[in-house]
Amino acid sequence: MKVGFIGTGSMGSLLLEALIDSGSLAPNQVYASNRTTEKVIRLQQRHPGLHVCTSNAETAHNSDLIFLCVKPLQFKAILDEIGSTLRPDQMVVSITSPVQIHHLESALCCKVAKIIPSVAHRVQSGVCLCMYGSRIKEEDRQLIEHLLSPISKPILIDESFVRITSDLSSCGPAFLSFFLDQWINAAVETTGMDRGELTWIAGEMLLGTGKLLTQGGFTPLELQKRVTVPGGITAEALALLDSSLTGVFHRLIATTHGKYKEDLEKCDAQFGGPGAD
Ligand SMILES: NC(=O)c1ccc[n+]([C@@H]2O[C@H](COP(=O)([O-])OP(=O)(O)OC[C@H]3O[C@@H](n4cnc5c(N)ncnc54)[C@H](OP(=O)(O)O)[C@@H]3O)[C@@H](O)[C@H]2O)c1
Repeated sequence: MKVGFIGTGSMGSLLLEALIDSGSLAPNQVYASNRTTEKVIRLQQRHPGLHVCTSNAETAHNSDLIFLCVKPLQFKAILDEIGSTLRPDQMVVSITSPVQIHHLESALCCKVAKIIPSVAHRVQSGVCLCMYGSRIKEEDRQLIEHLLSPISKPILIDESFVRITSDLSSCGPAFLSFFLDQWINAAVETTGMDRGELTWIAGEMLLGTGKLLTQGGFTPLELQKRVTVPGGITAEALALLDSSLTGVFHRLIATTHGKYKEDLEKCDAQFGGPGAD
């Protein structure tokens, strides 16, 4: 199978390199183009055999499956550019949440899917959210999930839940890192302890917490109870967090969903209205 990448910025290059490093793809199976071609040339230098394409149409023409790894408002122009090159048996996989499957199906004759990857795939971890268009057959779905399995846990989700699930799987690493960064800054300022050592302790703690939630049979609430001694130090600090963070997660969700709605309206306008064919 030949796999194309249109857009090799932050997530396009991460996905491409994770798939190559995990052995899911050999470099010579990969065709890639980017507005700034130098980025693809640098990837080829790291992965000899990778094909540098100088146009998106060249990437599309040469690939059985094409990942579109550009920002939402860049999709329409790219679909217009590659649309006439594509054949019905090819698959296009978008990696962005606001561009809807019906947008892609209205613009392309081929099979379409949408996945939301996570930065965690760089270390063969994290959930990859998968949504499939009406032209995707069971064997196509298996092929996509077989490709992604070495770097992630692919799961099927309903497109209507893409934003809330992306908040956790895709934005989550940034949100938790923000939390840890603030915490470590305060720890360094208060105690003068080495930042690197604190960061390592925090990372191991996060890894262990993840394992307890995925393999250890704990819910987040049960974990809090398991660590907390009534009247003890953790209990006092949890009470502080509870009172300090009241409403913050509802506001976080309102913020991500508000921005999503804004982008979706812009995509609808580009693609000719909601649900338009
Ligand atoms: N970052 C994440 O963790 C993450 C996770 C899940 C999904 N996503 C989604 O992935 C998409 C890309 O995000 P990103 O963080 O990778 O953004 P990014 O770093 O800005 O990458 C976008 C890339 O697209 C290229 N590009 C723009 N127009 C192009 C065109 N007409 N033809 C070919 N290439 C073009 C840009 O090229 P230049 O080099 O010329 O700028 C850039 O390298 C977004 O929609 C985002 O929602 C990101």
